[in-house]
Amino acid sequence: MTDAPLARTPRYTLGDWDNKATVRTGKNHYRLPDDLEQQLASRDWFPPAFIPYTQHPLVARAGRSVTQRLAANHLVYFLDYTTLLEHRVVNRSVEILIHGEFAVPIPKQMKTAALQLYTDEGYHALFSNELAEQTATYHGIEDRPRARRIGRLLGVIDATSPADRPLAWFLLGFVSETIIARELLAVARETLVSTIYRMLRDHLEDEARHSRYFSEVFHYLWSLLDTAQRHLAAGMLLDIIGRYFEPDMPWLMGSLASVGFDEPASRQIVAGIVQPAAHAAGVRSGAVSTFAAMKRAGFFNQDHPRQLFTQAGFIDD
Ligand SMILES: [Fe+2]
Ligand SMILES: [Fe+2]
Repeated sequence: MTDAPLARTPRYTLGDWDNKATVRTGKNHYRLPDDLEQQLASRDWFPPAFIPYTQHPLVARAGRSVTQRLAANHLVYFLDYTTLLEHRVVNRSVEILIHGEFAVPIPKQMKTAALQLYTDEGYHALFSNELAEQTATYHGIEDRPRARRIGRLLGVIDATSPADRPLAWFLLGFVSETIIARELLAVARETLVSTIYRMLRDHLEDEARHSRYFSEVFHYLWSLLDTAQRHLAAGMLLDIIGRYFEPDMPWLMGSLASVGFDEPASRQIVAGIVQPAAHAAGVRSGAVSTFAAMKRAGFFNQDHPRQLFTQAGFIDD
């Protein structure tokens, strides 16, 4: 989904935010449809492309109700994760720009856009939570542990000295915001429960603006960093991007157990996810927009950052 006027949007802004942002203009409600039972005969809770393990022969053989329940589990997990990510990671990152925690001048329009983006994310958290609650109630999903990725991302901050934390926060926001737009892009209209589709589409339209904004801000900040800061930032980016694509095996095994798969069967179903090459492959396809923004900023023009990423198998030399 692209937003054509974006190409003409002034730099460091969210474009015509008052007339475009879901929180300003959206009249949609996010209640599950009255004909949900009927829709579930042919539509999914979550895009199958996001959860390829549900196409494993063992799952397929178990029947549609099992596939649907696994997809519902994944949807609730994804929405709970999104709610936390928006508040605890993205908006914390945006606060850095708004409140001048980063020792660089922040242009006025960049600050205004950051305040708008913060508002968008608050609304995304609200509707993500609304749909997570409804889906969990419908299926009686009670076990809703925090996604491992949240802890792994916040762990980056814990591992960073206080003086460098504003930089780490900004990079966490940059990576999150360039990856989420890409994640949401795989949504296919006709196969999803109507309310879920509408919610993901509304979110994606906002995220297309956010991804563009964060890419521009990254370009701006990168140009202001000295060599030592760039080295530090390159290592942080490698770490953050790597953490983003780690699978959450405890949760996945729990989800499979909830529909009756024993441990040996579950291990067979997730075998593709735990292969050593799967991580770098996930990074390469999932972080395309992130890498494109880094490239535009000149990140890969220098030896040290380029070598870091080629050695990790994240990009080609
Ligand atoms: Fe969002
Ligand atoms: Fe966003």
